[in-house]
Amino acid sequence: MGKASKDKRDIFYRLAKEQGWRARSAFKLLQADETFNLLEGVTRAVDLCAAPGGWSQVLSKKMYEPKTAEEREKVKIIAVDMQGMAPIDGVKQMRADITKESTAKEIIEFFGGQKAQLVVSDGAPDVTGMHDWDAYMQAQLLLSALSIATYILEEGGTFMGKVYRAANTSDVYRQLKRFFKDACVFKPSASRNSSIEAFVVCRQFCMPKDHVPCNLITEWYNIPGAALKNITGKERGPVEHLPFVGHKCEYDSDFTYELGDDYVPLEAVQKPLTAAYQEVVEKTRNMSIKYKGYKVSHANDPPPPQETEIEFDTDQTEPDP
Ligand SMILES: C[S@@+](CC[C@H](N)C(=O)[O-])C[C@H]1O[C@@H](n2cnc3c(N)ncnc32)[C@H](O)[C@@H]1O
Repeated sequence: MGKASKDKRDIFYRLAKEQGWRARSAFKLLQADETFNLLEGVTRAVDLCAAPGGWSQVLSKKMYEPKTAEEREKVKIIAVDMQGMAPIDGVKQMRADITKESTAKEIIEFFGGQKAQLVVSDGAPDVTGMHDWDAYMQAQLLLSALSIATYILEEGGTFMGKVYRAANTSDVYRQLKRFFKDACVFKPSASRNSSIEAFVVCRQFCMPKDHVPCNLITEWYNIPGAALKNITGKERGPVEHLPFVGHKCEYDSDFTYELGDDYVPLEAVQKPLTAAYQEVVEKTRNMSIKYKGYKVSHANDPPPPQETEIEFDTDQTEPDP
């Protein structure tokens, strides 16, 4: 598939390259800000799961770039990811795992002991294609983002995180309602209607009385009955819903747009510095994988010739062309 083909199928992919965003996901945060004014007056923000840096670019562009040199001194933006990313003006980078308590401590140190006014998380685990599993993993990562937010967010602060609307999402909503006075599900127009992806936008963080910040996943699974009772006052919680807010704009992310005959596709603004798949590429660099096809055989057919379908040749020094 050529570059132009993706430009045609995905208007936000094309616009991201034209406008200088590293990832099309930048539009999702821009649209959330347009809808909720998330960034208004914010000087301390955390971008969790930030690589390759589209959301951090938005934070920099809105919170840092328009400011004077003196005002910029007060702006603190930190981007956290297990993967590395190229530098962005006004954004401190931290290569770390958001599920670790040590990460929370380092973030607070960066803010000089203060807490963040805004925590955003576009975190996504590697998708397997098994929808139930992927939705479950996404919920766990959102709970991890919420867990770290309970350490680093100031009272009254705002949290935005990616969620997959699926079977277990009610449990996640219940947790969000526990910590925020106002929470809703937001669907930016840059997120395809055909995708179960959405975002939770939670405002007015309010630490429940007697809650000590902890890993909410561990809390839940160690003492599920007790945790549920603490939160809901009941043994079994009711199904939770959150209000839904959609964003509409002139572009439709599910629509295929025609490109002019003289259209020239642009290069990506910034290729990933490191990516999870790179380790696999390294490990398989000296391995030749030859796919020899397969043949359907029937009970009465003569036995097939002895032949392996996939051949590994680990002695080779160069990959096959
Ligand atoms: C969809 S990308 C984020 C895109 C980003 N918002 C942007 O606009 O460029 C998801 C990121 O989540 C990161 N991630 C997943 N699990 C993580 C974890 N436990 N700690 C830190 N980062 C994590 C991945 O490394 C990946 O870079």
